[in-house]
Amino acid sequence: MSRELKNGIFFVGALDRERTLFDGLIPLPNGTSYNSYLVRGSEKTALVDTVEPDKTAVLLGNLEELGVDKIDYIISHHAEQDHSGAIPEILARHPQAQVVTNPKCQKLLMSLLEIDENRIVTVADGDTLCLGDKTFRFFYTPWVHWPETMCSYLEEDKIAFTCDFFGSHLASDTLFVNNEQQVQNDAKRYFAQIMMPFRMQIRKNLEKIKALQIDLIAPSHGPAYDKPQMIIDAYSDWISDSVKNQVVLPYVSMHGSTQKMVDYFSQALAQRSVAVQAFNLVEADIGELAIALVDAATVVIGSPTVLTGPHPAAAQAAFLVNLLRPKTKFLSIIGSYGWAGKTVEQLKEMISRLQVEFLEPVLVQGRPKKQDLEALDQLADTIVQKHREIGII
Ligand code: FEO
Repeated sequence: MSRELKNGIFFVGALDRERTLFDGLIPLPNGTSYNSYLVRGSEKTALVDTVEPDKTAVLLGNLEELGVDKIDYIISHHAEQDHSGAIPEILARHPQAQVVTNPKCQKLLMSLLEIDENRIVTVADGDTLCLGDKTFRFFYTPWVHWPETMCSYLEEDKIAFTCDFFGSHLASDTLFVNNEQQVQNDAKRYFAQIMMPFRMQIRKNLEKIKALQIDLIAPSHGPAYDKPQMIIDAYSDWISDSVKNQVVLPYVSMHGSTQKMVDYFSQALAQRSVAVQAFNLVEADIGELAIALVDAATVVIGSPTVLTGPHPAAAQAAFLVNLLRPKTKFLSIIGSYGWAGKTVEQLKEMISRLQVEFLEPVLVQGRPKKQDLEALDQLADTIVQKHREIGII
């Protein structure tokens, strides 16, 4: 169903409540959406991004419902297929239509979707596109989150079309945010998986957004922001260097020994007023783990030793942390082993991209004994001391 954002500007995208995992990785408890917008100017009509290929019929139905018989431009902010996937079908149905994008995105669209070069016109950073009484201004936002990503600003209506930037995983019945707390959490889930590794690049691009007079932010996932300051403030916090007095503790246990250590250690941290979020990796929502990583000062991975190395579930968590590159400052490992192994060495290798101070791990043989619990107390004391040194306690 199409919905009008503002005079002559319509949501024509697709909600996706059925998809359970994004990128085959992050659970989608509230679904997601692929937002496409139709902008009708007095002389020309533009489609802003499209949808996942398997939602093409929804987009076409929405356009039909609005009686759209001619599209002059398809603005492509980003070549990833959840936004570009229906471009070939739109081009086939509208032979006069041109894709408007930047040169890097042009190359990707030609390669990913075999779009004919002659159907694409490129714009430079700062260029405009006039639809008559509506004017798009394009601004490049590289690495938010691909090298070619850009945004546009509809000058007369003060709308920023930001594609993945500020997106949230929420299949919302409402066009605009109606529950700020929920959307902020769904946007944080999105940020943690997609944007967090590019925190530093986002900083420069966020400044470009802040310099605009914006009434509406229309992203390509989740509802539009009619009070944009909320999400701008949230991003400012997420990309900053400031961390919180929190420990994220992803763990797995085989015979209960690592579980005992996690329970004891969690309590030891709580007694020292350090917040702990423990995730049993057997059943954890990896998206919640990613969200927790956005703010936490410290990560402690709990793993038993399987054969000679870390449990594969713990290895996956370490791989994910390394991939998402949170601003975490300190990291350690706890766990239990049977006879020997290289759990610590192998996990350390897996987090090589993180700029963290490694704290003395606690690896124990079998069930944790009195001296092992004392070592966990010592690790908790060290974490408190480190958090004090950086001024978050
Ligand atoms: Fe929503 Fe990078 O695609």
